Amino acid sequence: MSKAQLTNEIRQRLLADAHAVMAKAYAPYSKFQVGAAILLDDGRVFTGCNVENASYGLTICAERNAIFAAVAAGGSAPKPKIVAVAVTNNQNIACSPCGACRQVIAEFGPAAVVFYQGPDGIKELSMKELLPDCFVLD
Ligand code: THU
Repeated sequence: MSKAQLTNEIRQRLLADAHAVMAKAYAPYSKFQVGAAILLDDGRVFTGCNVENASYGLTICAERNAIFAAVAAGGSAPKPKIVAVAVTNNQNIACSPCGACRQVIAEFGPAAVVFYQGPDGIKELSMKELLPDCFVLD
């Protein structure tokens, strides 16, 4: 599954999967529920939601939970290759992946396409645009 094969049908499916898992978010403190769906180059899709904690700093974002699920499932060897990421939130407000999540997305999908809620609907930007000159250790 290459980026070139990212059809509107796949975009809609990823957004629908992100929306579905968003309902499972554990966000009693912020009330801001987030869902993420990631597409790997082998066609598999993994999802995650945000999980908050009374010790606020222990909260994990939806995007990282989706990526960690892909790693735990033994994504494409030697590591999962992310082609696309879709992110939704329950308040329909502009919300791009946070800086920490951008760095984690870049680890597995330096050229991934990211869909998320922008001020005027769904925005679509590449990881190169979201995190230029990101930190790498090769
Ligand atoms: N959150 C995410 O899950 N993903 C993001 O990209 C931004 C923020 C979550 C973390 C926290 O549970 C809530 O949204 C408010 O910051």
